[in-house]
Amino acid sequence: MENKPVTIKIKRFNRNTDTAPSYQEYKVKIEDDETVLNLVKHIHDSVDRTLAYRNVGCYIGFCTACLMSVNGKNVRACTRIVKPGEEVVLEPAKKYPVVRDLVVDFGVSREQFGFEALDETLDRRGDTTN
Ligand code: FES
Repeated sequence: MENKPVTIKIKRFNRNTDTAPSYQEYKVKIEDDETVLNLVKHIHDSVDRTLAYRNVGCYIGFCTACLMSVNGKNVRACTRIVKPGEEVVLEPAKKYPVVRDLVVDFGVSREQFGFEALDETLDRRGDTTN
């Protein structure tokens, strides 16, 4: 099977040092479908250790610790599938204060917004349907 690169454009911002956010593009070759969270983890572990993301949670679509915006929709990164050749734009979850890159402050905001911040639904297998 042919490895096709996925183009991943990630919004970067550090509230302690940056005056404005910027986008950084990464290309990752994948043979088969992969989750956004695994791609972000690969970028962090093998390409760019400065990328901040939340590496905690259930990894099976229950806890929403991996919530982030994928192509403008707040989804669970551990269940959002990316296909070989696809282009995706990753941004911190909408409606939450940004701490750094893809990490947001769920603290008080989560009490305020709860799970309404999700723009996705999951089918019975836990796959994202939109
Ligand atoms: S890590 Fe729990 S829903 Fe994604």
